[in-house]
Amino acid sequence: MDLKEHIRAVPDFPKPGILFYDISTLLMHAEAWQETVRRLTDEVAPYKPDMLVGIESRGFLTAAPLALEMGIGFFMVRKKGKLPGETLEYSYGLEYGSDTIEMQADAVTPGQRVIVLDDLLATGGTMDASIQLLRRAGAEVAAAACIIELTFLEGRSKVDVPVHTLVSYDS
Ligand code: PRP
Ligand code: MG
Repeated sequence: MDLKEHIRAVPDFPKPGILFYDISTLLMHAEAWQETVRRLTDEVAPYKPDMLVGIESRGFLTAAPLALEMGIGFFMVRKKGKLPGETLEYSYGLEYGSDTIEMQADAVTPGQRVIVLDDLLATGGTMDASIQLLRRAGAEVAAAACIIELTFLEGRSKVDVPVHTLVSYDS
């Protein structure tokens, strides 16, 4: 199955000149979504992770079914202010300004192996920040996995763990 047939490219979103790769159509197609989850599981399972991590918000859609399929837990990395209890945070620079992400302090015990999931790797900034946060919590980040990679943005070079993606676009 060619997963690209189920990913919609929307021109000029969210800004003129940006081609947005939309997984909504992939999620709406049961067989294509099942195949996506199976393929991600094949990529990730060899690492034998203790836990998966989903990055807000489309990473939740990716991590949750994978955790079920693999029979392990997952937790959320969220934008600041959304998680109750004691949290750890990490701030990182964007093109304009900065952003802060958080996780719950007790989500991992030191040394636990985690794999980080998101829908898409673009510049790699979001994935890198999540990995730095997870390390701050004592996690061992074994790998990162996304459905889509925008290779022309070279996000992979920013991420210092093995990166697994299912489909890539070079423009
Ligand atoms: C998108 C995408 C990734 C991130 C990739 O999320 O879902 O999380 O951008 O970009 P980067 O590699 O350049 O950091 P977005 O911030 O649009 O939010 P959403 O997941 O809540 O829709
Ligand atoms: Mg996202």
